[in-house]
Amino acid sequence: MRLALPDLTLDLRTDRGVFSPGRIDPGTKVLLLGAPPPPRRGHLLDLGCGYGPMALTLAARAPEATVWAVDVNERALELARQNARAAGFADVRVVRPEEVPEDVRFAAIWSNPPVRIGKRALHELLEHWLARLEPDGAAVLVVHKHLGSDSLHRWLAGRGWRVARLSSRLGYRLLEVRPGPPAEDGPGDGGERPAGAGEG
Ligand SMILES: C[S@@+](CC[C@H](N)C(=O)[O-])C[C@H]1O[C@@H](n2cnc3c(N)ncnc32)[C@H](O)[C@@H]1O
Repeated sequence: MRLALPDLTLDLRTDRGVFSPGRIDPGTKVLLLGAPPPPRRGHLLDLGCGYGPMALTLAARAPEATVWAVDVNERALELARQNARAAGFADVRVVRPEEVPEDVRFAAIWSNPPVRIGKRALHELLEHWLARLEPDGAAVLVVHKHLGSDSLHRWLAGRGWRVARLSSRLGYRLLEVRPGPPAEDGPGDGGERPAGAGEG
């Protein structure tokens, strides 16, 4: 399938048995269109990469960075590797989660996280990887409001992360998560923008 964004076009192979094989997931598209530009250097992570649309967009937008793409689905990893090679991003590191060296810290994490694994598993997964952000790093997560985005926002803020809602489009909340205590002068649970900001 073709991923067409204002700044790049990628042709990607998908297959049955991976997430959203028939089309670019609309939540993924919301993230790819709405996320701030990734840091130019350092380590960048696509958490739950599927066949790779986010990892390859990171690689295209930050050619000097080291992009990691992790998933637990072997077929997804295979496709992401093929897609990276075909797009000319041979350096994208497509690996199982445990293959990322312990000492790697991320300047940015992008994820359309696997909410269907259940709240507890999702929280554990996010805590594990968010703890590996650099102090000035940021994660961008996309989650649909019907799949718990607002309770995830509150939970992250309650765990001491600084969370901001960057936008809300088609029911998908785009959350930016940064290390550190919630801003003291921020509204509500962690600096969310006024209702309706970026609504579309
Ligand atoms: C919502 S899909 C997003 C896929 C891809 N990023 C996209 O946008 O099309 C979430 C992905 O997370 C993967 N996943 C599930 N559990 C995981 C885990 N523990 N660690 C890493 N990835 C996981 C799933 O296999 C799936 O590919």
